[in-house]
Formats: sequence, structure tokens, C-alpha cells
Amino acid sequence: MSKVLVAYFSHEGMNYLGGKIAELKKGNTRKVAEKIAARTGGDLFRIETVEKYPYEYRECVEQAKREAAEDARPRLAKCADVSGYDHIFLGYPNWCGTMPKPVWTFLSGGDFSGKHIYPFCTHEGSGEGRSVKDMEMLCNGAEISRVLAVRGGMADSSDGAIDRWLEDVFTR
Ligand SMILES: Cc1cc2nc3c(=O)[nH]c(=O)nc-3n(C[C@H](O)[C@H](O)[C@H](O)COP(=O)(O)O)c2cc1C
Repeated sequence: MSKVLVAYFSHEGMNYLGGKIAELKKGNTRKVAEKIAARTGGDLFRIETVEKYPYEYRECVEQAKREAAEDARPRLAKCADVSGYDHIFLGYPNWCGTMPKPVWTFLSGGDFSGKHIYPFCTHEGSGEGRSVKDMEMLCNGAEISRVLAVRGGMADSSDGAIDRWLEDVFTR
């Protein structure tokens, strides 16, 4: 049976939720990633950076904007060996209209040609933004499925949306 990886980036701390700033003890994308791993039997891999992102929401947004302007590739704490996986679920929050830069580092560091990538994203109203276009540019030769976009505050109750999406896009 072909192997499944569920890689995700998720930022715990203060975040923008339902129109106000609130603390998230467990990230929205992490919640969705764990549900997908439970359904697919995939290995979970958390994309983490060496330098931690600020806990405060506004400071985090400032850093994300700087990294976007510089097209940064923040260093990752652990590398993932994707060579043994045919199916890669890739989760991230929408940051400033696309994937957070650590996800760009993750994609730049592996060979994704011939692999199936299933993007999933959590957001506060902008959906997946231009993340899938950016992903297509970064991993030439991969087959990228339709994205699952979940509003952050709906992460806990996203089971039905995940099931329908998996039914539609995922065949082992
Ligand atoms: C730095 C930063 C930038 C964000 N930019 C956007 C955005 O452009 N559009 C949007 O809909 N939500 C944006 N959000 C909200 C997050 O996408 C949303 O809260 C997401 O569910 C957080 O997932 P996480 O808890 O897994 O990190 C941003 C949040 C942060 C911290």
C-alpha cells in the first residue's frame, strides 16, 4: 500500500478568530491535520522553524509581511524525507494571502515530482488565496489536488468537509 504523509505548519498563540484576537492553544491547521492523519493512517510531520514566530498576533503578522517581502526561506528545525511517500497532504494557515514561508522552505527542500499533493488550508475569510498557484510553481512535476479550505473557527467541526473532500480527491 502506498505511504501517506500529513505535513503541516500551524502557529499556536494569539491569532485572529471570528473578528477578534484570541489565544489558540492548539492551532487550527493542526486540528485539521490530525483528523486527516486519523482517516488516512498517514504519518504526521509538523513543519517547525528554528526561530520561533512571535506569540503576539500583530508581531507575527509583521514578521510574515517582512518574510513575504524578502521571499524568505526560514530554516526548519527538522527536515522531512519525502522520498518514501507517494501521497502528501500539506496543511497550512493562509498567511498574507498564501502559504507561510516555512512551507515554501519545506517544498523547496524535497523532490516532489511524481507525487500526489493534497493541499489543505485554514483561514479567516480569504480561503486558500494564491497558495495553490505558488505551490504549483514550487513543486514542478507533482500532481496537486483540489484544495480543502476550512475557516479557522470551523476546524473542530470540519469532519464532514474532510470526509467529502477525501472521498473526492484521494485514492490510494
Ligand atoms: C501572520 C498571519 C497572517 C494571516 N493572514 C491571513 C490572510 O491573509 N487571510 C486570512 O483569511 N487569514 C489570515 N490569517 C488567519 C489565519 O489564516 C487563520 O487564523 C488560521 O486558521 C490559523 O491557523 P493556525 O492556527 O493553524 O496557525 C493570518 C494569521 C496570521 C497569524
